[in-house]
Amino acid sequence: MTLDVGVIGVGMIGQDHIRRLTHVLAGVRVAAVTDVDLDRAKSVAGALPDAQVFGDGAELIGSDDVDAVVVASIGSTHEEYVLACIAAGKPVFCEKPLATTREACDRILDAEVAAGRRLTMVGFMRRYDDGYRDMREVIASGHIGAPLLFHSAHRNPSVPDAVTSAGMVVDTCVHDIDTARYLLGAEVAAVQVAKPRRSSRAASHLQDPLVLLLEMSDGALTTVEAAVNIGYGYDIRGEVVGEIGTVALADTNRIVLRRDGGFGGRIPADWRERFVRAYDVELQAWVDAASNGRSTGPSAWDGYAATVVCDAGVEALSSGQRVPVSLRDRPALYAPEA
Ligand SMILES: NC(=O)c1ccc[n+]([C@@H]2O[C@H](COP(=O)([O-])OP(=O)(O)OC[C@H]3O[C@@H](n4cnc5c(N)ncnc54)[C@H](O)[C@@H]3O)[C@@H](O)[C@H]2O)c1
Repeated sequence: MTLDVGVIGVGMIGQDHIRRLTHVLAGVRVAAVTDVDLDRAKSVAGALPDAQVFGDGAELIGSDDVDAVVVASIGSTHEEYVLACIAAGKPVFCEKPLATTREACDRILDAEVAAGRRLTMVGFMRRYDDGYRDMREVIASGHIGAPLLFHSAHRNPSVPDAVTSAGMVVDTCVHDIDTARYLLGAEVAAVQVAKPRRSSRAASHLQDPLVLLLEMSDGALTTVEAAVNIGYGYDIRGEVVGEIGTVALADTNRIVLRRDGGFGGRIPADWRERFVRAYDVELQAWVDAASNGRSTGPSAWDGYAATVVCDAGVEALSSGQRVPVSLRDRPALYAPEA
């Protein structure tokens, strides 16, 4: 069976997902696209074998020619499209964020709970990265004892001037926040933000780097370093410290070059290069689940928790205070998989 997917939002990541749905993954084809920029949608559809262009997202979701939907439009539009997919009973892969406010995420949770089944997967692709998966397995096996600390570093070579300090929390650190929840199996209970000496490479309005301190619900601590003008490459680092050992992401380069009295390897240029395999595995997992009428992966609950923690992070950034995180009770629909 081939899953006919409609893609809403054909900007940078929308086009990247269309490329993998069309050329990399199995059992799926892009049957429809739409974008508020219809010319862009038409031009993207023109390069596909047989994709319809719809005038808007609601039409695409309602079409009988669309089995499942990828939402890759800007974050503020996600709620509307995810709710429409749930109402139509169609599986939806929603790029992060699930929605931009806690209230919007609440409405999505309520809709899924009322529907009685999970239809939404959120694009936290790090959960499909081999390195993080192996780290999680090591932690779950007890090899390092109980996890006490998780150190995460998220370094970008540079960012456009439009990026704000709050944006660093919401758009950059959101991945580290989800990773902390995934690796440690605990919720975030409180957030503080520390502001180190600013990089001279950063725009004058930007607090770069910044450090989040996340108190986890079981007492473990997570530190997240976000440094978005680091220059040397896109470098993602992570280490969990347990009672009797540690487990860390290895460098991702496949070769080591030795010359001139030194040695070195390659650092990815950007997130697409670093996580290319994770995106492929993530979307194939969604396609396989959707084709079999199942749900999988990061749920609407995970999207909700990430948005609430990001909100607390933004508040902590501006107030300088420790901000407690209060989550609603987790509906039984989102009980962790055994
Ligand atoms: N998981 C990841 O690592 C990752 C990486 C990049 C982006 N993202 C997320 O993907 C989403 C898109 O990011 P991007 O970088 O591709 O942005 P982008 O600006 O390149 O593309 C967004 C597209 O959405 C379209 N759009 C805007 N409003 C719309 C509407 N109401 N209906 C339909 N289309 C609309 C725009 O015209 C544009 O084509 C964001 O939510 C972003 O956070 C996730």
